Order: sequence, then C-alpha cells, then structure tokens
Amino acid sequence: KGESGFPDISALKQQVEALRRQLQTLQASFSHYKKAELFPSGQSIGDKIFKTVGSESNFEGAQKMCTQAGGQLPSPRSAAENAALQKLIEAQNKSALLSLTDTKKEGTFIYPSGEPMVFSNWAPGEPNNDGGAEDCVEMFTNGKWNDRSCGEHLLVICEF
Ligand code: IPD
Ligand code: CA
Repeated sequence: KGESGFPDISALKQQVEALRRQLQTLQASFSHYKKAELFPSGQSIGDKIFKTVGSESNFEGAQKMCTQAGGQLPSPRSAAENAALQKLIEAQNKSALLSLTDTKKEGTFIYPSGEPMVFSNWAPGEPNNDGGAEDCVEMFTNGKWNDRSCGEHLLVICEF
C-alpha cells in the first residue's frame, strides 16, 4: 500500500506489464516448440492433436496404444478435423484407423465413449459391411472413410 492507504496503482501497473512480457515470451517459446514437436508426425486443429505412432496394428492393439498414452483413436468431428487428420495420413501414405465401430449395433457407428457419430465422410458406397464383417473404420489418403475389418493392420494415429 502507498502512503494514502490505497494500493499503489503504478506498482501494480508495472507488475502487470512485467507479466504481459513474460506471457508473450512464453507464447513465442510454446509455438516454437509446438512446431518442432509436431513435425513430421503430428497435426493440431483447435485444441485437438493427432499424432502417429508410425507403426500398424489391428483395432484392439491400436486402441490400447492410444489409451495407454492417455489419448484415444482419432475421432474427427468436423470437416476441419477430418482435413487435419488427412494431412497426416497423406504424408504417411497409409490408411489409418479411426475410433468408430458398429460392433454393438450393425450400421450404427459410435465413439469409444458410446456416443453416436456426429460427423462422417464415407467414400461412395460405404459403409458396406463387406463380407458381413466390417465393424471398424479406416481413413484413406484422400480423407474418405471405409468400414473395414477390425483385424486389419492399419496405421495407428492417436488423438490427444
Ligand atoms: C474391399 C473393397 C470394398 C470395401 C471393403 C474392402 P478388397 O477390399 O475395397 O470396396 O468396401 O471394405 O475390404 O477386399 O476387395 O481388397
Ligand atoms: Ca467397406
């Protein structure tokens, strides 16, 4: 407090200014590290990050890898998220697994939480449950989706 008994406004202003500078430095440093961290195996979109493990697995193995890392399989919920995920899949030049499954009820795809699908980007003629045995979903390098056997070994990408 100053002599008047009120908080010293000019001292507070100086502290706020010092914090503002520190925040600016931290933000610049964060975007620098983020750029390096996401290259070449990650993509960020809004608050979401997609990152590839780099290896291939069936659905069960892929789901384990992602949940053990504190994430989940990719659940693109908008065209923008789908496009961000596609960039990664295109760069790796391999189809990747999504989180969606219709194991519980044929034709009704749900997220791991059980929530029904809110966005889809099916390729023409899909999902076709080929051979009566396609309960998982892959994204092609063109960003389109295909239902696929959960036993298929596909590129593992996790969402955080
Ligand atoms: C199948 C076809 C089909 C698609 C299936 C695939 P395959 O591949 O591409 O159009 O709907 O999901 O399994 O068995 O002919 O190599
Ligand atoms: Ca299919």
